[in-house]
Amino acid sequence: MTSAPVIRFDNVSKTFERPDGRGSFVAVDKLSFEIAPGEIVAVLGKTGCGKSTMFNIVAGLIEPSSGKALVDGHDPFRDFDYFRGKIGIVFQGDRLMPWRSALDNVLLGLQILDTDDSQARETAMRWLARLGLSGHENDYPHALSGGMRQRVSIARAFAVDPNILLCDEPFSALDEMTARDLRAEFVRLVRQTHKTAVFITHQIGEAMEIGDRVLVFQRPARIAYEARLSPGMSEAERQAVQQQIMAVLAQEPASVA
Ligand SMILES: Nc1ncnc2c1ncn2[C@@H]1O[C@H](COP(=O)(O)OP(=O)(O)OP(=O)(O)O)[C@@H](O)[C@H]1O
Ligand SMILES: [Mg+2]
Repeated sequence: MTSAPVIRFDNVSKTFERPDGRGSFVAVDKLSFEIAPGEIVAVLGKTGCGKSTMFNIVAGLIEPSSGKALVDGHDPFRDFDYFRGKIGIVFQGDRLMPWRSALDNVLLGLQILDTDDSQARETAMRWLARLGLSGHENDYPHALSGGMRQRVSIARAFAVDPNILLCDEPFSALDEMTARDLRAEFVRLVRQTHKTAVFITHQIGEAMEIGDRVLVFQRPARIAYEARLSPGMSEAERQAVQQQIMAVLAQEPASVA
């Protein structure tokens, strides 16, 4: 692919001080990768391997200890303002504001961007409808099911029309059938709107359903295996990839620092 990468990590490391003051802890270790425009990349790895730390660096919430992270050619931490409206985030929990209705939750991002009121309302209503929530615009989060709340968060992320979507295990708390529907919906929406997406998960099946490419992380976050998944792949080829991924994940025990 010849176009400039949307996301580029060049030898990025992140070190945290240990809470007990006894030295430091490496969460991300000289991580390098590139994500091209329009790609959907699934990042897969065991708990504690540094996925969210990588995610937070892309989102500009934390700064690398060394190396360079570039998103859209800019430093996501230092040029934070540049990214207003350019990155949509779906967190693990739905992170909706309980005192705001579904509509008002989706409106939030648009209001932050100073979108004209009636236009913002129309956009928010359209995205809620697209996610099958017509008639629930005025419901508060406590009155919605987990799947519906997660749909509101997806509507909220898409409504600001960001170039980049970042998702950190958005469907992990849902039952498998609901999660499968939302995954298919998510991929369809990303394709239709030509966005670039990074999708974090710890489930192999989910990574392979969502990603054009799967990056398998080992702890501390580094790429232990990478697979490209083309729609034309045979079932046998997909199974071979799945076996490889399982073998890589089996190499390390799940552990917490
Ligand atoms: N702010 C912090 N201060 C100290 N240590 C941290 C901090 N954030 C993360 N860590 C440590 O870095 C390691 C990686 O954490 P991270 O949240 O990136 O893992 P993860 O792959 O997202 O795990 P999970 O699948 O459980 O969400 C963990 O050992 C964690 O304890
Ligand atoms: Mg995490």
